[in-house]
Amino acid sequence: MQDRIYNFSPGPSVLPEPVLKRAQTELLNYHGSGMSVMEMSHRSAIFEEIFSDAKAKMKEALQVPDSHEILFLQGGATLQFAAIPMNLMEGAAADYAVTGSFSEKAAKEAEKYGTVHIACSTKESGHDHIPPQEALQLSEDAKYFYYCANNTIYGTEWQYIPETKASLVCDMSSDILTKPVPVEKYGLIYAGAQKNMAPAGLTVVIVDKRLAGREQKFTPQIMSYETMIRTNSMLNTPPCWCIYMLGLVCDWLESQGGLAGMEKVNVAKANMLYQALDESKLFTVSAEPGSRSFMNVTFRTGNEDLDAKFVKESADWGFTNLKGHRSVGGMRASIYNAVPVEGVEKLCEFIRDFDKKN
Ligand SMILES: Cc1ncc(COP(=O)(O)O)c(C=O)c1O
Repeated sequence: MQDRIYNFSPGPSVLPEPVLKRAQTELLNYHGSGMSVMEMSHRSAIFEEIFSDAKAKMKEALQVPDSHEILFLQGGATLQFAAIPMNLMEGAAADYAVTGSFSEKAAKEAEKYGTVHIACSTKESGHDHIPPQEALQLSEDAKYFYYCANNTIYGTEWQYIPETKASLVCDMSSDILTKPVPVEKYGLIYAGAQKNMAPAGLTVVIVDKRLAGREQKFTPQIMSYETMIRTNSMLNTPPCWCIYMLGLVCDWLESQGGLAGMEKVNVAKANMLYQALDESKLFTVSAEPGSRSFMNVTFRTGNEDLDAKFVKESADWGFTNLKGHRSVGGMRASIYNAVPVEGVEKLCEFIRDFDKKN
């Protein structure tokens, strides 16, 4: 790893080293074009190939059915908090599962465009678990059911796909491409790229084409799924560099055995880390068993000074970004696809060492 650090950042996050190296090799002169991907017209034949290649690889990796379109957009996941109700709520109602701060923000935004039914909220227990299917309150008039698959801040993850009559809409910002997903079950999946896909600046939306064309009149063109499907995400300049990087990440994923292969590694990494924490006398995992995230492992000692000491000493072990989100404190290790197994092994060693000495 030479001078590279083990980076447990929740996002933007570590990218696979072979991807960075390939981007470096191709940086100045992409495939004999004499220019960088950053310098190309998005309408040029050479970029069009990069674009369609990344889209095809994404389709292949996630087994996206022909009924669904993959869009490469901007504005982050946050813009989708508004785009989703503008396009899919039809001024009526939708069900929202509030299991963390991003789904809470999405529900708040959606209130501007129709009636939001809270299907469940875990706020009172500090978002420490995911409610079971029986606890979801589903309404008859909901145009869609919204949830966030992995709660980046709280370290919880849905370990089942909700059964609903209304279309499923899911924020997969922090777990897309980390395991196979039955895309056909969803009306819409979306994710900011900056955790498992590419640098920040790209938002991927996978939408069932049958849901397009229902947007409110006031919906800006740039936020209309119908328009973006029609223009193949090229109504305006797309985030070209990020799309190129996504293609490289998809190639790397394939070399890891695709999403099934990646899932095995991710499960092994998370289990290893949870085991080290559960066996310690000092640390408590914040999320309840059965709801624990495979991507963001949140934990604490119960003593703020000790937490701060852990974070400080982690730098000496070659780690960075282990501090918990400012709203919850404690620690968080984000162990996305590109975090190497050795990094998690070393983190477990540090946890055991710290536990013994404190
Ligand atoms: C699950 C989830 N949803 C939404 C967001 C917001 O993403 P963005 O900053 O791209 O708008 C984040 C950011 O970390 C996230 O983790």
